[in-house]
Order: sequence, then structure tokens, then C-alpha cells
Amino acid sequence: MILREMLVDDLDAVMEIEESLFSVPWTREGMFTFLTRDDTMFLAVEENGTVIGYIGCLMVLDEADILNVAVRSDRQKYGIGGFLVSGLLRLLAEMEIRTVHLEVRTGNETARRLYERNGFTVDGIRKNYYTDPTEDAVLMTYNG
Ligand SMILES: CC(C)(COP(=O)(O)OP(=O)(O)OC[C@H]1O[C@@H](n2cnc3c(N)ncnc32)[C@H](O)[C@@H]1OP(=O)(O)O)[C@@H](O)C(=O)NCCC(=O)NCCS
Repeated sequence: MILREMLVDDLDAVMEIEESLFSVPWTREGMFTFLTRDDTMFLAVEENGTVIGYIGCLMVLDEADILNVAVRSDRQKYGIGGFLVSGLLRLLAEMEIRTVHLEVRTGNETARRLYERNGFTVDGIRKNYYTDPTEDAVLMTYNG
């Protein structure tokens, strides 16, 4: 299993995972646009030549916002989400970025526990932030 930069060539595999997991998935165009921006970092986990998970963030000065994290459903619960989050935090720290924000659905207990295990704490709620279904966002921050 390797963690590497996500490439445009990964978009087929990434979009398949994205569309299978999210009720409101990113579009392929949106994913391409963010992936190729200079102020983002997208990483992919590859296993036997196949992408099975990814994470992306937007960087603003010495802070970052995690935009998405996903692991193919048949490879969840093997620590790959943890590998992605900790790997991203390590690479950001190398760039002197130690404050990282994110939003997560209130009911997404698995993701919330994943972020808590990696040092994120809750610092607010954004009411009705998500659609399909409408749900509050929990705001979490990591201060490495
Ligand atoms: C959230 C998500 C990325 C987590 O990925 P993951 O690879 O399953 O994450 P991990 O394996 O690191 O952790 C998940 C659970 O597996 C457990 N686990 C990890 N390795 C394990 C092992 N070897 N044996 C048993 N359990 C294990 C973890 O303890 C954790 O348990 P918990 O849910 O009780 O806290 C994944 O569930 C996902 O893609 N969800 C859909 C998309 C999503 O919601 N993304 C986040 C919002 S943007």
C-alpha cells in the first residue's frame, strides 16, 4: 500500500469511489479543477496498482482545509482512512502548515472518530450545512 500524489490519470478510479459513497458527489470537472490547482494537495492510496482511497485539502497561508476523504467501501475498516489523514498531516507539517480545519456530517460517527483519533477537536456546529439529507456540520480543527 502506498500513499502518493493523486494524478489526473486516477480520476476514473477516484470518481467511481466518490459516486459510490456520497449522496452529493463531487463532479469529475470539480475534482479535476481542484486537483490541478496550485493551492491544493490531493493524495491517493494505491494497493496492487489500484486506487482505493483519497484525501484532498486546500491550503491558505499556514492553514489548510480538508475537502474530502474517502476509502472504497470494501477496503474500509483496515486503517486506510487513518493512513490518509495522518499522511496528509505529516506532509502539511513539512510545509509548516499545522492548523487544519474540516467539516463533517453530525451523523458521520466513523469519520468523526477518525478525525478525533488523529488529534482533531470539535470547535463548532454549522446549522443545516449539508443537503440530501439536510444535516448540521460539525467543525473540527487540528493544531499540530
Ligand atoms: C470515513 C472513512 C474515510 C474512514 O475510512 P476507513 O479506512 O474505514 O478508516 P479506518 O479504517 O482508519 O477507521 C475506521 C474504523 O475501522 C477500525 N479499524 C481500523 N483498522 C482496523 C483493524 N485492523 N481491525 C479492526 N478494526 C479496524 C478503526 O478503529 C475505526 O473504528 P471506528 O469506526 O469504531 O472508529 C470511510 O468510512 C469512508 O470513506 N466513508 C465514506 C465517505 C466519508 O464519509 N468521508 C468522510 C467525510 S468527507
